[in-house]
Amino acid sequence: MDRPRVFVARLIPEAGLGPIRASCDLDVWTEDTPPPRAALLDRVAGCAGILTLLTDRVDDELLDAAGPRLRVVANYAVGYDNIDLSACARRGVAVGNTPGVLTESTADLAWALILAAARRVGEGDRFVRSGSWRTWGPMLLLGIDVHGSTLGIVGLGRIGQAVARRAAGFGMTVLYHQRERASESVETALGATFVDFDELLARSDIVSIHVPLTDETRHLIDAAALARMRRTAVLVNTSRGPIVDSAALAAALADGTIGAAGLDVTDPEPIDPDDPLLRLSNCLIVPHIASATTATRARMATMAAANLLAGVRGEPLPTPVDLA
Ligand code: DGY
Repeated sequence: MDRPRVFVARLIPEAGLGPIRASCDLDVWTEDTPPPRAALLDRVAGCAGILTLLTDRVDDELLDAAGPRLRVVANYAVGYDNIDLSACARRGVAVGNTPGVLTESTADLAWALILAAARRVGEGDRFVRSGSWRTWGPMLLLGIDVHGSTLGIVGLGRIGQAVARRAAGFGMTVLYHQRERASESVETALGATFVDFDELLARSDIVSIHVPLTDETRHLIDAAALARMRRTAVLVNTSRGPIVDSAALAAALADGTIGAAGLDVTDPEPIDPDDPLLRLSNCLIVPHIASATTATRARMATMAAANLLAGVRGEPLPTPVDLA
């Protein structure tokens, strides 16, 4: 029997590649950077399955290039804003993602950014390395306290909840906002209070973003939202870059509208080397690494491979994205 042809758009951990190789005709993009568009369109031709990353745009053009044999797109991410779901639905192509397995690692990184931005860890490290450290200083690198402060979580889904759980150890007041209020049991377990968006912005010492990127959330944090925040507030984004208006954030950090930011995601990615955010000492940026632990990336690979293999066999995906 013919082995189904599949394209994997980047080298992923062997935990995922192994099972795919065992039963498919596997083609993997092995370079460190994503396949350029022309190469991607070329390599997916005739495939029954494609394993994509958040850097690969899946749209009509790509699906047409793949052709009628395509049954599944397995995204190696929990987010799937890179995929045009209606284009997949129109062709009967199933879509899978990797929910759950990266929740705790992402929450850990959100906390790394909260602590580092609030306590100026990046600035301190640069200060020491530059040879500027002369003595203990009463006014040196003063930040804000994280313990006992108020954490505002925008989006109390899986990751938002994991971030909130960690706040208990810091004795924080936890506020949250999302479209629909969470159940009473979730609120009670987390000690989280539902407030409207403006109140969350006004009351939080730290605002952490955990909503997916949609038309509704694009530039959710714009100049007006930033103006409602406290002048000492820390903004943390581990979700998707375009949820924050980068130009407005740079202006707010430069003129003291807010205190600091910790970003795992930028708009665009990678960030332009001339982006004003890179000139601001109160903006800490890491390169979209929230799920980047060896164990989590292996779990994501296993899950994406399971989706890919189920899809090429015409079976229900273990973790499908709802295309309705
Ligand atoms: C995701 O899964 O959506 C992250 O951004 C990458 O792990």
